[in-house]
Amino acid sequence: MDGNGRWAVKRGLPRLMGHKRGANRVKDIVKASTELGVDTLTLYAFSTENWKRAAHEVEGLMKLFRGYLQNNFIELNAKNIRVKFLGDPTPLAADLREQMEKLEDLTKDNTLITLNIAINYGGRDDLVRATRKVAAKVQDGSLAVEDITEQMISDHLDTAFQADPDLIIRTAGELRMSNFMTWQSAYSELAFVEKSWPEFTPEVYAEVIADYRARTRQFGAIIPKGVTGAE
Ligand code: IPE
Ligand code: MG
Repeated sequence: MDGNGRWAVKRGLPRLMGHKRGANRVKDIVKASTELGVDTLTLYAFSTENWKRAAHEVEGLMKLFRGYLQNNFIELNAKNIRVKFLGDPTPLAADLREQMEKLEDLTKDNTLITLNIAINYGGRDDLVRATRKVAAKVQDGSLAVEDITEQMISDHLDTAFQADPDLIIRTAGELRMSNFMTWQSAYSELAFVEKSWPEFTPEVYAEVIADYRARTRQFGAIIPKGVTGAE
């Protein structure tokens, strides 16, 4: 969800106003996802690197996050949305962690869409925490080193038992992965859009999805001529 800061600065507004506008985009994009047939949407809200920002910006982002949870807690459940938080919650405020746990628990059996909210998430950190979990099983004797598989690593990540992302969309013209789903993105399709997150409307989203659907995915294989629908 990149480009909030630039969106604001360009309009002579404080960066936090951009984050606020960005947070307001979320509801529309979740709704659009259900209409576009997206079964899992992940929003990368705060990375393990974002703590390096000025204290007031970090505080502002946390406040927005808290507000989002408060304002949408009931509605997310009422709309049959399953919410899952990705990332290490340990450094987050206790009240936030409590709300996150409650919301995950409340919505765990919902079926319309899975909404992953990545907060204090880093792809490398995800892998480190998964590695620790797997290593602990080796250490206690319940797992042999030779039995470690790719699937097992996947199942110890924050996205355990979810499919790898089909499509990763980067907003605001950025051309890098920024420590997002390092393991899970091995075969993800990528889309780069110039629009900043506050300008990422359901219409822009629909165009990106249509473009993605027109692609042929081979996952490293070669598809014989004349065969379509690689998925
Ligand atoms: C939002 O955009 C990303 C978050 C950490 C929420 P940025 O704050 O990175 O916006 P730019 O890149 O400065 O425009
Ligand atoms: Mg940025």
